[in-house]
Amino acid sequence: MTASIRTSATPSRDDFSGRLLRGSVKKSFEPIVDIDWDAPLDPDKFFLPPKVVSLYGTPMWDAMTRAQQIELSRQELVNTLSAGIWFENILNQALLRDLMHADPTSNATHYALTEMGDETRHMVMFGKAIERLGAKPVQPRRYQRIIINALPLTFKGSLLWVAALVGEEIFDSLQRQMMDDPDLQPMVQRLMRIHVTEEARHIQFARDGVRRRVREMPRLNRWWVANLNGVGGVFFQHLFTNPVQYRRVGLPALEARAQARRSPHRHQVQAGGFAPLAAFLEEVGLMGPVARRLWRRTNFLPGGPVTPAAPDESVEDGAEDVYEGPATLRVADEDHAVRARLTGHLSPIDGKYHWRGTVFGTLTDEALKRPEALLTANGRTAAARIAERTAQGGYSVTGMGTPPFG
Ligand SMILES: [Fe+2]
Ligand SMILES: [Fe+2]
Repeated sequence: MTASIRTSATPSRDDFSGRLLRGSVKKSFEPIVDIDWDAPLDPDKFFLPPKVVSLYGTPMWDAMTRAQQIELSRQELVNTLSAGIWFENILNQALLRDLMHADPTSNATHYALTEMGDETRHMVMFGKAIERLGAKPVQPRRYQRIIINALPLTFKGSLLWVAALVGEEIFDSLQRQMMDDPDLQPMVQRLMRIHVTEEARHIQFARDGVRRRVREMPRLNRWWVANLNGVGGVFFQHLFTNPVQYRRVGLPALEARAQARRSPHRHQVQAGGFAPLAAFLEEVGLMGPVARRLWRRTNFLPGGPVTPAAPDESVEDGAEDVYEGPATLRVADEDHAVRARLTGHLSPIDGKYHWRGTVFGTLTDEALKRPEALLTANGRTAAARIAERTAQGGYSVTGMGTPPFG
């Protein structure tokens, strides 16, 4: 019998969260060591692909030197990373408040906590990136900080999940379009790939939360959420054309902002970034008339019908390939029937498949003196190392190369 974990067509919130939890174990990053912060920056590479810089395609852009264009891309990236930090701060505050009312034993709670851990590491990653770029973070003014800090108090229930999607999906879809651009600094590519991989799970969690709640929402509440999300368009327009970034490059800030906001190319980039979320809001009936007008007025929605961008198949959420079932552990020429829970991932650092997990069973003291073992599960055998005895009576095992499951 193999007991690879599979999900049914309509899993419960708890099953769905359990799947995301397993995905997080399998594929998460530690930016302190997963990004080479010491690698030199290439002075001739952009920090955002030129096409995504707000002024691209405007007369002001054409009049700039390549060095100025690169500098603007650096300042725009810093502006975006800074906003990313405030946004993740808001989300974590809102999630933590929400958990005070949640069941601490449920998978959904555990996944929310895991997501908060991801966001905490993202804030470290963004902060380190700003420092590495040698730029000053963009700080909101005092009154803006007070407003930002008050937002988590208002994000409850469905509004929390819709706000999370507005904050995550637009960045996510822009990052997916950018991260493989050969003109981009390798450090930024790496940062984006790490972020996109972990955000894929956050977006699934928030979308699932919206889908479930939307069915039972009272009409007035639904109207409110469906229309309030349009404020996201106004917020992003302000963010993407923040005068600070132009001023830092020595450009006339207000004229630069006006040209960026008028730019048809910019409108296209924004609409491409918003398209997946727009399609989702339409699908679940949360694109109200006021929201539609706001998204359109800020040029995130084109006049015509919405075509969602094709999902990037090269980024997986890491939720597959968990083995749970019987196995045989051979230590010191003795076979032990055990139960195993195993998972693994292809390491982006050394390019090898690393797997690990826990086996449950009774091993003799003699066997435990030898860490080297052979583990057979699902008909395949692989060399394993017994790392430690866990407090729950199991044994942690690790291995590298083709795993004994799969
Ligand atoms: Fe994040
Ligand atoms: Fe996130």
